[in-house]
Amino acid sequence: MNWEEKYQNDEVFWNRGAPSPPLSDYLERHPLRGRTLVPGCGHGHEVALAVKHGLDATGLDIAPTGVAAARSLYPHLADRIIVGDLFNPIADLHGAFDVVLEHTCMSGLHPALRPSYRRGIDLTLRPGGLLIGVWFINPDLDPGHEGPPFPFSVAALTELFADGYAILADYVPDQSFSGREGRERVRVLQRLG
Ligand SMILES: C[S@@+](CC[C@H](N)C(=O)[O-])C[C@H]1O[C@@H](n2cnc3c(N)ncnc32)[C@H](O)[C@@H]1O
Repeated sequence: MNWEEKYQNDEVFWNRGAPSPPLSDYLERHPLRGRTLVPGCGHGHEVALAVKHGLDATGLDIAPTGVAAARSLYPHLADRIIVGDLFNPIADLHGAFDVVLEHTCMSGLHPALRPSYRRGIDLTLRPGGLLIGVWFINPDLDPGHEGPPFPFSVAALTELFADGYAILADYVPDQSFSGREGRERVRVLQRLG
């Protein structure tokens, strides 16, 4: 998947123009502080959400044109939104985060890249830190659709973080973007120290 090309061609079908409703709801109900990473932040909506909730957030995205779009949408957050590869994060990001907010970064990745995603989280989230995800549970592809998003089940999520993480919360949210109702799952994982 060439993400940069998608942004250059304005084929950003995943962009809903607003922060994830379940993530918004979670942060309303669970005040948090600390350095926060939003991997695959795209247009930066979840970075803006995190900062609104008092988190010291950094958005990371591999696509320079995506980062430029996020910076232009949220100019006051421009310094917080950076180009980079979650799979090979720069040394400054290693162990630097108390919280990672996941929203449609994982589901956009080919299943063969899931171990690299996990490694990226391991490298950036400090032991004891929280991985708060709105995981896009999409067990079957629609006919004719090749992904992204790729098929991703609750079982696959459990398997990906089976070792080294404890599940602190796990539920199907009661508010979602339209078309994603019942296909999202909030799961909060704590990295074991
Ligand atoms: C499906 S989009 C979701 C964007 C955003 N989270 C949203 O909900 O609108 C996936 C994003 O992950 C980014 N991405 C893919 N692989 C990445 C990597 N290895 N490191 C950082 N970002 C990556 C893509 O450029 C893209 O912006």
